[in-house]
Amino acid sequence: MLDFNGQRILVAGGSSGIGLATAALAAEYGASVTIASRSAARLEAAVAQIGKGAQSAMLDLISDEDVAAYFAESGAWDHVVVTGSEVKIAPVRQLPLSDARQAFESKFWGFYHVARSARIAPGGSLSVVAGFLATRPVAGRALMGAINGALESLVQGLALELKPVRVNAVSPAMVAGGMWSHLSAEEQAAMYATVGANYPAGRVGTGEEIARQLLLLAATGYATGTIVTLDGGASIA
Ligand SMILES: NC(=O)c1ccc[n+]([C@@H]2O[C@H](COP(=O)([O-])OP(=O)(O)OC[C@H]3O[C@@H](n4cnc5c(N)ncnc54)[C@H](OP(=O)(O)O)[C@@H]3O)[C@@H](O)[C@H]2O)c1
Repeated sequence: MLDFNGQRILVAGGSSGIGLATAALAAEYGASVTIASRSAARLEAAVAQIGKGAQSAMLDLISDEDVAAYFAESGAWDHVVVTGSEVKIAPVRQLPLSDARQAFESKFWGFYHVARSARIAPGGSLSVVAGFLATRPVAGRALMGAINGALESLVQGLALELKPVRVNAVSPAMVAGGMWSHLSAEEQAAMYATVGANYPAGRVGTGEEIARQLLLLAATGYATGTIVTLDGGASIA
């Protein structure tokens, strides 16, 4: 069991999916948890679900000014985990260019903004959720792969630039819930069954599995510049 007692952890994107699972697990392990995202209603519901004194902050990762202002006032963190992004997925020739640029704005530049401004204690950590498409391209997901590849590369460069702060990433394949929640329960179940059957693990991942890995990296002082591809074997299938 990990022990985060006395430590401050921020989960940017913690109001749903992998981020919410990470915030809830960190709180269970004793951390003082803050979740940040754009929607007050989602934050309120998530804070109620996490309990244990969790706090929230309104933050749009796309705005460098907002991110800089937030970190100027929020003090030093032990660990910052970035799961927040909103990305439309479609083949390159079908996705409007404005949506493609917006995807980079959200997932790549959002994390970049945090990396520029977050105040993190020496030996503490900054983590992001990238994705297995970084190294295992899939037709129809080229843009997502490019964003994830850029993030993985950035993480390793940042591990050198920001030391003694440690910088890591977890790169999953499909994870149930979260960004797929706009689909009906039946649509999700059918998709998870079809996609999961192609993974050596025989199923898609859970938010809790990715959360545990993110927190393990945060708690491991030897982990920096580390990319964990936690994908049910999708990369080797
Ligand atoms: N689920 C998967 O299958 C999967 C697989 C590989 C990688 N990933 C990556 O893992 C990350 C989390 O995925 P998820 O499935 O947990 O997604 P999710 O449930 O949609 O969660 C995204 C979170 O980010 C917040 N957010 C979105 N845009 C934001 C912004 N501009 N500023 C601040 N917060 C923002 C959302 O809250 P608000 O709406 O309140 O802002 C929400 O809390 C994403 O980067 C995704 O690409 C997911």
